[in-house]
Amino acid sequence: MIGKLNHVAIAVPDLTASAALYENTLGASVSAPQALPDHGVSVVFVDLGNTKVELLAPLGDHSPIAKFLESNPQGGMHHICFEVDDIVAAADKLKADGARVLGDGNPKTGAHGKPVLFLHPKDFSGTLIELEEA
Ligand code: CO
Repeated sequence: MIGKLNHVAIAVPDLTASAALYENTLGASVSAPQALPDHGVSVVFVDLGNTKVELLAPLGDHSPIAKFLESNPQGGMHHICFEVDDIVAAADKLKADGARVLGDGNPKTGAHGKPVLFLHPKDFSGTLIELEEA
């Protein structure tokens, strides 16, 4: 069901500093920052050719990554994102198999304007998984 690795997401306390680290120190191609108020984060994407790194910083007072950054003040790997062909079919199969889809269980529009959903880390070896309809 899952296809390509779309991105690995790293939560960071300071998006500008981390974007500069990837751009200048690691010599990567980094997108302009993008605010995603519906998701409570600001993001930049690091283009690696075969996949991307998504740097996420909290946006607003109720960011879903605020707690993660409290436990990991320097930042850390937050989730991985796999592509799927049909996100509704994927959600139905996962729910039938007993996996928990976070939120209200329905896909939301993600950073690329495509439908995404998140799966409970306790159901997937301690890793928060995002699925994105490719
Ligand atoms: Co993501």
